[in-house]
Amino acid sequence: MIRTRWLVGSLILAYAVTASAQQPTTATPIAMPPSLGEQQAQNGLPTNGQTGSVSEISESRILPNGVEIRSGRTIMRVTALRDDILRVQAAVTGGQPLTEDGSWAVLPGLREKTVAVESTSNPSTLGFRTKLLDVRIDRATARLVIADLQGNIINADALGHTTNFQNGSFRVSKTLPSDEHFFGLGDKTGPLDRREQAFSMWNTDAFGFQESTDPIYKTIPFFLSIDHGVSYGIFLDNTWRSSFDFGRSERLAYSFGSEGGPLDYYFLYGPEPKQVVEDYAYLTGAPPLPPLWSFGYQQSRYSYTPASRLREVADRLRKDKIPADVLWLDIDFQDRNRPFTVDPKTFPNMPQLLADLRAQHFHTVAITDLHVAKVPGEGYAPYDTGIAGDHFVHNPDGSVFSGVVWPGPSVFPDFTQQQSRAWWGTLYKQFVGYGFAGFWNDMNEPSVFDGPGKTMPLTTVHRIDEPGFATRTATHAEIHNLYGMQNARGTYEGVLKLNPGERPFVMTRASYSGGQRYSVTWTGDNSATWNHLRMSTSMLENLGLSGYAFAGADVGGFANSPQPALLTKWLEVAAFQPIDRDHSAKGTADHEPWVNGPEQEALVRKFINARYRLLPYLYTVAEETSRTGLPMIRPLFLEFPHANKDGHPVDLDAGGEFMFGPSLLIAPPAYPDTLDKYSLNLPGNGWYDFWTGKQLPAIPSEAELKVLFQASPDGSTMQSPAAQAAMKAINANRIQPTEEELPVYVRAGSILPMQPLVQSTEDVPQGPLQLRVYPPVGSGAACAGSIYLDDGHSFRYQQGEYLREEFTCARTADGISVKVSPQQGSFVPWWKQMEIVVYGWQQASAHASVDGQRMKAQVEATESAVRVVIPASASGVEVVLTR
Ligand code: NOJ
Repeated sequence: MIRTRWLVGSLILAYAVTASAQQPTTATPIAMPPSLGEQQAQNGLPTNGQTGSVSEISESRILPNGVEIRSGRTIMRVTALRDDILRVQAAVTGGQPLTEDGSWAVLPGLREKTVAVESTSNPSTLGFRTKLLDVRIDRATARLVIADLQGNIINADALGHTTNFQNGSFRVSKTLPSDEHFFGLGDKTGPLDRREQAFSMWNTDAFGFQESTDPIYKTIPFFLSIDHGVSYGIFLDNTWRSSFDFGRSERLAYSFGSEGGPLDYYFLYGPEPKQVVEDYAYLTGAPPLPPLWSFGYQQSRYSYTPASRLREVADRLRKDKIPADVLWLDIDFQDRNRPFTVDPKTFPNMPQLLADLRAQHFHTVAITDLHVAKVPGEGYAPYDTGIAGDHFVHNPDGSVFSGVVWPGPSVFPDFTQQQSRAWWGTLYKQFVGYGFAGFWNDMNEPSVFDGPGKTMPLTTVHRIDEPGFATRTATHAEIHNLYGMQNARGTYEGVLKLNPGERPFVMTRASYSGGQRYSVTWTGDNSATWNHLRMSTSMLENLGLSGYAFAGADVGGFANSPQPALLTKWLEVAAFQPIDRDHSAKGTADHEPWVNGPEQEALVRKFINARYRLLPYLYTVAEETSRTGLPMIRPLFLEFPHANKDGHPVDLDAGGEFMFGPSLLIAPPAYPDTLDKYSLNLPGNGWYDFWTGKQLPAIPSEAELKVLFQASPDGSTMQSPAAQAAMKAINANRIQPTEEELPVYVRAGSILPMQPLVQSTEDVPQGPLQLRVYPPVGSGAACAGSIYLDDGHSFRYQQGEYLREEFTCARTADGISVKVSPQQGSFVPWWKQMEIVVYGWQQASAHASVDGQRMKAQVEATESAVRVVIPASASGVEVVLTR
């Protein structure tokens, strides 16, 4: 949706994102393998014969938690798990009850959750009410309508469409209101808003993907809708090839469906979008808290080899004082590309190398692809033990399937079997012993170079051994989209078992909903172009809304070589993304921060330094994510769902802006490659410049501007102080892009914890914890922040070894009071003092009292700030600043 707002007369402020940013894209489909039906038919196998529809109701049953209807051979059930979460299931069962009820995504026990509902059935509709929702099914058409208790329709089946099953495939159509917008579906390409686009869910090795490429690596069939500020989500729990069409083929309806498997979706009610995101985490799990080091800067390349090259990179990072925590080893450290081996010529002593890097405070992550080299009789343990245990995927005739990947002919673990995942986990023993800190599961769509559609044939056979599912075989058509997730699950669980005291760090490329429980992710093989830098924001925002809050994009671009300005800007922006990993393809120019000379390096250093100084804030946000699922990188509408009076999502007017946690707004230009000035869109009540601490003047509302600038036709009102102040504010909100700068703003009413600069998260910061206080604008506005800390790597925080402190501030008649709550948890922090810096201090002097005792306060006139250093105390403290 394109919207442009015009302000008065010649004073035109285009708040809108330009057309091409929001235009629906024309998909360039990646060559798809034949559908299951086609393949089954080609192989002379019977096709799934399910055909039917949910239309006229022939029979119905009131359940304690919902309703069940029969429509011919089809059965449909709508039940409430919670007052705000519904589940809709339908199947052509020929009159039999629904049988298998398994899910790879939904946490165990949740599908059995139920709340009592009140039946509201009458002669024309069958329905029920929860404490929040009113659910009705039309008896004549079986149309499902979900409303709030005031009768406002939130979601409804599209008129004139019935839910149909054709040979096992199905499609559900919903009404599409004119200002409904859609987000989520993982890291699908294209604009942030999914409206007017269509997507296919089929995990694909999409090297060289571009803005219109679909599908790519992941299947996350969850989307969040927002319409006039009211939000709901739908999660289609189906691993088969599915598709979503958000008004691309029809103007008044959107739809989703799948080629097979269960029609089983969850409706998650907000009405606030944050609630929907939390509901999705409730169903599929919030990601576990990763180790602190994974929030440091990470340096990767395809590939650092030999060992001396990796040492050089490590030394240079330290020598040049580029803070960094993680180094990555891509496939070339292996012997002939065989997973779980080390090339003895180029890496003669891996344990020593890793120990030396640890001494320099680096953690090293190794790639461990899932394809196992098919080399019988060569003493390659992953192959020999896998064959001995029958752990590989079969062909329909029972033989082991093989396909070509990096090592040549390879075989593929059957990750849907519990015992095969357990076997896979044992393969990590040696690498964990060597001292690798984390593992990288790549190529797990799975990518098979000589397979149909660059993957396995859909008829290959997997074995399912999972609670909730019958113990049975399944074709690859059912398992394909799940394969990468189960690969990561095997890795996570295996590494945890080998080293139970440490938080595993696993990064996966392919995944399915719920995969966030086992792994972080990245957006795959992007390109070194300005457009990919721009897209990394929307891809990470949508991933974050879809459960994968801990994610990154290859910084600098994977394919091709970035020009200096692009690499620098990318490193700047990525300093404010959850995972900050610079990575590049073989044959491309080097990407490390120093490659473009000292001036560029100094720019990059400034941003990586800022990330490290912000680590207490980052880690606090990450811990919140691990409890609630709320992402680190957030579209603005998540924080400001009501920013626009008409509820239109604010991001669609806000170019490249995004939030990093609840307090920081990052505002790169929407088109980072142009030097055109751009307008900021700063929702809410007031902002401060993160770099200078200065408060931004508020732009008057449209109505106020109209009065100011239209009052006098000769323009003389431009001279009035109010009009001049308005012009100044407008100009302060117009940004001239430069290489050196990246605008970052702090939301008024925030308290940001920051630390002295370190070169690695292993270093103990020297000096006080800094609390930057950005007082609220307007009376009664909240002012708060918090800090969370633990040892950064173990699970001891679950036994109370953590620290949490809440901060608040309040304006007083002649100053401000800042309170630090007593500490929760028993973790002993590194700081002995706190430095409180209050911004927006306009006075020349300040007096401070700490719990009633006088302290020295220092006014920094140029920053409009005042500083007080106080002893840290676990029992809480109040600092009062007066003029
Ligand atoms: C594909 C991955 O996407 C890329 O990041 C990696 O460098 C190559 N495989 C080689 O392992």
